[in-house]
This record gives sequence, structure tokens and C-alpha cells, in this order.
Amino acid sequence: MKKQSTILIKRATLKSIPKIVTIHKKCVSETNARLYSGSTIKEWVNQISERSVKDQFTNSSWYILSAKNKIIGFTQFSLDDSKLYQINIDPKYQAKGYGKLLYKFVEKQFKKHHKTKIYLNSTLNAFAFYRGLGFKSLGKTRFKLKKEYVQMIKMEKTLD
Ligand SMILES: CC(C)(COP(=O)(O)OP(=O)(O)OC[C@H]1O[C@@H](n2cnc3c(N)ncnc32)[C@H](O)[C@@H]1OP(=O)(O)O)[C@@H](O)C(=O)NCCC(=O)NCCS
Repeated sequence: MKKQSTILIKRATLKSIPKIVTIHKKCVSETNARLYSGSTIKEWVNQISERSVKDQFTNSSWYILSAKNKIIGFTQFSLDDSKLYQINIDPKYQAKGYGKLLYKFVEKQFKKHHKTKIYLNSTLNAFAFYRGLGFKSLGKTRFKLKKEYVQMIKMEKTLD
């Protein structure tokens, strides 16, 4: 009999933090690096740390996606602010439907809590991904690092 691959989405715990940091750094240095300058990527990667994730654990929701017991992606969102902060899938596992799966889970949480909008700032890389999921562009924005800025696109989706 063919073994089914088990995909699980569950709330991140403090134990998940090192893996979240590893995946985030890989996404920035491998995926985002295709569309941002070297100096921006360097600063961006350097500001991703276990401490900063831990600090954000209290004011937002973090979930991890695992396949065959291996964490391959994560998401961070806030129902209070109606914001989806990020979805990151390990570059090795991108373009296999996992990002969409994680997004659908997030949208379900928003609907369950009677939210009517999801707001996000998309990286230039993920713009087409979010547009395909029904998000509309609200124009450019940027996220300030220490010296550099990360160009992003403000987007929103109305939930029905
Ligand atoms: C953006 C990201 C989360 C998408 O996850 P993924 O697992 O690679 O995407 P999926 O395989 O689930 O793709 C879902 C759909 O989006 C499309 N898509 C995904 N990435 C795309 C891209 N860069 N450009 C165009 N379309 C894209 C797919 O073709 C697919 O379309 P379909 O449903 O019509 O088949 C992932 O590529 C990633 O982690 N990127 C780096 C981190 C990042 O910038 N995250 C966003 C932070 S706001």
C-alpha cells in the first residue's frame, strides 16, 4: 500500500523557533535575494534572530507546517490587527502547493473569527502568489531595516 505523506499545521512552540529562524533566513538569502540588492539581503538576514521571533510570540500567532515530521514552513498573523505578517516555505519545498495550503489555513482562522479583511505587506517575490489568492494591490510601501529599506507591496483581501 502507498504510504500517505502526512502534512500537519500546528501552533508553533518555543521549540520551533530555531527551525523558524533557519527557514526564514534561507527564504531571504535564496528566494528574496532574486529581487533585492545584496546589501538589503545582508541586513535583512542579519536581523532575523531567535530573540526577535520570541519577542513576537506574545503579540501574534505563529503556526508551522510539517510534512513527514519535518518542519518546512511557517506563518505569522494577527487576528487583532487583521494582518498576515508572513508565510515562508523552505526554498527546497517551494512551488509544491505548501504555501497555498498554509494560506488557506490562515484564511480559515480569519473567517472563523468573523474577520472581513486580511491586510498584508508582500515581498516583491510573493506578489503574484498573493494576487492569485485574491489579494488586491494597494500600492508600494517599504520596511525599514537599520540602513536599507525592503520594498514591499501593500495588499488586502475582502473575505465573504
Ligand atoms: C511565496 C511563498 C510563500 C509561496 O509558497 P509556495 O509553496 O512556493 O507556493 P505554492 O506552491 O503553494 O503556489 C500557490 C500558487 O501561487 C503561485 N505562485 C507561487 N509563487 C509564485 C511566484 N513567485 N510567482 C508567481 N506565482 C507564484 C503558484 O504558481 C500557485 O498557483 P496555482 O494555485 O495556480 O497553481 C514561497 O515561495 C516563499 O516562501 N517565498 C519566500 C518568502 C516570502 O517572500 N514570503 C512572503 C512574505 S510576505
